[in-house]
Amino acid sequence: MRQWMLATLMCAVAACAPDSPQDSTSSEPPPIAFDGALAQQAAAKAAHGKRIADVLGCTGCHGKDLQGERFHELYASNLTRDVANYTDQQLEHVLRVGVPPTGRELWGMPSELFQHLSAPDMAALIAHLRTLPAGGKPTQQPLPFPPEVQQMIAKGEIKPTAATVREAKALGPVHLGSTYELGRYISRVTCAECHGPELKGGRETPDLVVAGAYSRDEFEQLMVEGTGTGGRKLKPMMEGVSKGRFSKMTAGERNALYAYLKARAQQPQ
Ligand code: HEC
Ligand code: HEC
Repeated sequence: MRQWMLATLMCAVAACAPDSPQDSTSSEPPPIAFDGALAQQAAAKAAHGKRIADVLGCTGCHGKDLQGERFHELYASNLTRDVANYTDQQLEHVLRVGVPPTGRELWGMPSELFQHLSAPDMAALIAHLRTLPAGGKPTQQPLPFPPEVQQMIAKGEIKPTAATVREAKALGPVHLGSTYELGRYISRVTCAECHGPELKGGRETPDLVVAGAYSRDEFEQLMVEGTGTGGRKLKPMMEGVSKGRFSKMTAGERNALYAYLKARAQQPQ
C-alpha cells in the first residue's frame, strides 16, 4: 500500500512518463494515457486502473474478479493472490517484459501490448491490483501442451511472452502526428492484440484500414455491440471484445481511436 502511494505521490511531483515535462509549470502536453489516468487521488487512480483492466482484457483472461481462470492449456494466474509475491517494480517488469522474478517462462500473457502502456496507466493498473482482496483458488498448474501445440512451438508459430515482447518492441501502428497520438496509443494496447502490432491484420483478422469505411455511428455500434457496417454480425471474437471491453472506453477514447483509424485508412497503403 505504502509503495503505490509513494508512486502516486512521485507522479504528482515529478514526471510519470519519460517524455513528460519535468517542470509542472511548463505548458508541455500531459503524457498520452487513457482518460482519467492522471487522477491524483488514490481512490480515483485505482478506479481508473479497474476500468482499464477491463478495456485491456485482464479480466477477460484472468476472470472477472481477477481470481484466475483456465485459459486453454494455460492457467491465467489468480492475481488477487499472486501479486502479493511482487513488489511494484517486479509487477511492472512482469507486465512489460513477461518474466516473473522466478525467471519462469510465461506463455499466453500479452505483455507485447502492455510494454507500451504509459507510466500513468501502468501506475493506476498496479494501484488497482493492490486493492484486490485475496480470494478464489490458488493459481493452478498449466496443463502439458498437446502435440499440435508442441508442433507449433517447434515451428516458432507460438512463442513465449518474453520473445513476443522483444519482437513487438520496435513495431507499432504508423505515427500520424500528435493530434492522433491518443488514438494510436489506444489501438496499440488493445486492437494490436488480434489485428497485429502494426494493425495490418493477422490470420483471422483484417487490416484495420477496413475501419475507414465506418461512419462514426457505425464505429460506435462496432465498439459497443460488436456489429459491423449495416448491422452485420461479426465473428464472436470481435463481438466479445467489443461488448466486454471496448464498451468500457470513454466517448473521448472512442473518438480518438476513430479519428486515428480514419486518418490511417486515408494514408497511401
Ligand atoms: C490473453 C489472455 C491474457 C490477458 C489479456 C492478460 N493476461 Fe496476464 N496472464 C495470462 C496467462 C495465461 C498467464 C500465465 C502464463 C503462464 O503461467 O505461463 C498470465 C500471467 C500474468 C501474471 C504473472 C502472474 C504470476 O502468477 O506470476 C501477471 C502479473 C498478469 N498476468 C497480469 C495481467 C494483467 C494486469 C493484465 C491486464 C493488463 C493481464 N495479465 C492480461 C493471460 C492473460
Ligand atoms: C480478441 C481479438 C480482437 C481484438 C482485440 C480486436 N479485434 Fe477487431 N476483429 C477481430 C476478428 C476476429 C475480426 C473478424 C470479424 C469477422 O470477420 O466477422 C475483427 C474485425 C474487425 C473489423 C472489421 C469488421 C468488418 O467490417 O468486417 C474492425 C473494423 C475491427 N475489427 C476493429 C477493431 C478495433 C478498432 C479494435 C481495437 C479497439 C479491435 N478490432 C480489436 C478480432 C479482434
